[in-house]
Amino acid sequence: MWWLKDVWVIDPSQNLSGSRDVLVKGGQILEISSSLSEEEVLAKAQGESLETVDGKGKFVFPGLIDVHTHLREPGQEDKEDILSGSRAAVRGGFTTILAMANTQPVIDNRALIEFVRLQGERAGYAHVLPIGTVTKGMLGGELVEMADMKAGGAAAFSDDGKNIQNAEVMRLALEYAKLTGLPIISHCEDKDLAGDGQMRRGMASARMGLKGIPASAESVIVARDLLLAEETGGKLHLAHISTTESVDLIRRAKTRGVDVTAEVNPHHLIFCDEEIRLTDTVLKVNPPLGSRGDRESLIEGLRDGTLDMIATDHAPHTLAEKARPFAEAPFGIASLETALSAIWQYLVLPKRLSLERVIEAWSYSPAQRFGLSGGTLKAGAAADMVLFDPDFSEVIDSAQLVSKARNTPFLQKTLQGFPVMVWVEGQLVQRNRTVL
Ligand code: DOR
Ligand code: ZN
Repeated sequence: MWWLKDVWVIDPSQNLSGSRDVLVKGGQILEISSSLSEEEVLAKAQGESLETVDGKGKFVFPGLIDVHTHLREPGQEDKEDILSGSRAAVRGGFTTILAMANTQPVIDNRALIEFVRLQGERAGYAHVLPIGTVTKGMLGGELVEMADMKAGGAAAFSDDGKNIQNAEVMRLALEYAKLTGLPIISHCEDKDLAGDGQMRRGMASARMGLKGIPASAESVIVARDLLLAEETGGKLHLAHISTTESVDLIRRAKTRGVDVTAEVNPHHLIFCDEEIRLTDTVLKVNPPLGSRGDRESLIEGLRDGTLDMIATDHAPHTLAEKARPFAEAPFGIASLETALSAIWQYLVLPKRLSLERVIEAWSYSPAQRFGLSGGTLKAGAAADMVLFDPDFSEVIDSAQLVSKARNTPFLQKTLQGFPVMVWVEGQLVQRNRTVL
C-alpha cells in the first residue's frame, strides 16, 4: 500500500485541486482524504506493507494519456520500438499511449493490431493502445475492416503521416467508423498545397531560402473534414493543429455541434518558425512550426477548450537521418521524455496555462474522447498516477534518455519540473527519473 502525504492533488475528473493524502491499495486508488492519522492508515492497510511518500511541495495527478505517439515497431526498430517507447513514456509521466499506425508494415488488419497490443503488454510499462490505419496499406483508397480491428483492440483509426486526399474516402471512413464508436484521427495536409515544402511558408522560410508549406495546406483540410463530420455525424479527431485559421474553424464547428475534438503538440505551443536554423533539422516537423501569431492562437484555443487535448506526436528518428541536409531530413521531434517538463517550464510557470488545464487536456479529455478507463484518481480507479516535482531540474542528457531517439530540441538543455514517481496500476515503474 502507498500513502502519499500532504501532496497537492490535481484531478480534473472530480474538479479537485488541493492538498490531500492519497492511499493506493491493490493497484487502485483507495481514497483521497484531507489528512489521515498513522493509526487510520495502518488499519486500512490490514497487514499489507506500507510505503509512505512525503508529498509536500509536489503534485500528484492521473497518469498522462498521449493519443499520438510513433513507436515505429514493426519495421523501424532502429528509430524506436514498443519497449523503448513505452519506457520513455513512463519516464515522461505517460501511463497510456496510443501508437500510430504508420509503421512498416502499416497496421491495417486485426493481426497487426493484436501484435502491437501484445508487445505493449509484454513490455509492461505504459498501456499501449494500437491505432489502426483508415485505409488498406495506408494508400488512401479502400477502407480497412474497422469492426474486426476494434475487436482486436484498436483504439482509433488514422492514416497519420499522410492525409486522406480523396474526400469521398474520408466521408465513408467517418460514416463507417460510427459503427465502431471510435474516432477517425485526421492528419490534415493538402498534398498539392504542401508540395515538397520544408517549413511553414512566411518571412522565415523566405529568409532561409527553404520551400514553404502554406498554412492553408492544413486549414483547407480541417474545413473539409469538419464539413464531412457534420454531414455524416461521424466522430472526428484532428491531429496536431498548428494554424490560427484551423483554430477558428474548429471553434465555429463546435458551436454548430459537430462531433469534433482536436489536439495540439507541445512544440507548436513552445516554438515558432523564426527559431528554425538551416544547419539544425531538430525543429523540422510536420505540420511545420507556425508564426508567433499561430502560437498565440493555439495557446488561446487550448485555454478556451477549442483545442481539447495536448498530444506529443513523439516522432523518433535516428541521428543519422536527422543529420542529413535540411531538405532531406525526416520530419519529427521525439518528445515523450521532455514534453511535460517543457510545458511546465514554458507555459505553466509563466502563467500562460494552468496546471489544472494541462492535466485535463492530457489525461481526462483523451480518456473521455477515446473511451479509456484512465484519466482519473476517483476511488476504485486503477492507480495510473504521477508524482511531479516542480523543483526537480535535469540536464537532458543522451546517456539518460531511455527512448532510442535523440531528436529533441532540449538535448543538453536544462529543464525544470519532472515526474519523479510514476505508477501503472499501482506498480511503481519510475522513481527519481529512473525507469524500474
Ligand atoms: O513530424 C511528423 N512526423 N509528422 C507526422 O505527421 C509524421 C511523423 C512521423 O511519422 O515521423
Ligand atoms: Zn501527423
